[in-house]
Amino acid sequence: MDRRSFIESCTAGAACISAAAALPVFAADAKPRAYPQALLMNDKGEPLKASSLKPLTNYVFHYPFEATPVFLLELGKPAPPQSLSTKNRDAYAWPGGVGPRRSVVAYSAICAHQLVYPTRDVSFISFRKTRAQRGVQDELIHCCADHSQYDPARGARVLSGPASQPLCAVLLAHDTKADTLTAYATLGGELFDDFFRKYEMKLSLEVGPKARNSVTGEAVVRELEKFCRNPIQC
Ligand code: FES
Repeated sequence: MDRRSFIESCTAGAACISAAAALPVFAADAKPRAYPQALLMNDKGEPLKASSLKPLTNYVFHYPFEATPVFLLELGKPAPPQSLSTKNRDAYAWPGGVGPRRSVVAYSAICAHQLVYPTRDVSFISFRKTRAQRGVQDELIHCCADHSQYDPARGARVLSGPASQPLCAVLLAHDTKADTLTAYATLGGELFDDFFRKYEMKLSLEVGPKARNSVTGEAVVRELEKFCRNPIQC
């Protein structure tokens, strides 16, 4: 999505204009996939302020579909742009963190190995402030299923384990005036088709017929500890 098509896809509105202003310039081979925009909201129904995010804390929202979870993280330090590639060797340029310190990042919470994801009942994948039992370093996203580890400060590239590509990035626009965040696209190796195929029955029970509906307008952000009854540590 280039700057022009993004702007043309927008309906009128301040959030859209702000998001367009913040749209990063991508390398020629990058292929962000645009989805309906969603303003991130807190669990009180107010627009989430980027500056209100607690550093090194797991937050979850759902985007671009009702059933597809995303990790939102304030890393407490700038996350610079990265050159990455998918398992199909499609190169892409992750634009880095957003927000006042360029330290806010978002990634699909669907593990790139075998699609483990956080549910309301249990989560085997999460960000770890300190090293997991088999962790290669602190501050990684760790999946307990087979111990894939991703570095959220570097585009969620794989540092260890069987995953064959980074977690798919979710692109955010930061409105500097309002300090709000808007999700508008994904970048990298999407696994949504595989995810819906694998978990069709489970998702129909967990989420119901809306599972594959696009998230539009707003997406509610919650701490993982509040969203999920049993976040597994390993
Ligand atoms: S499903 Fe995450 S490492 Fe295997």
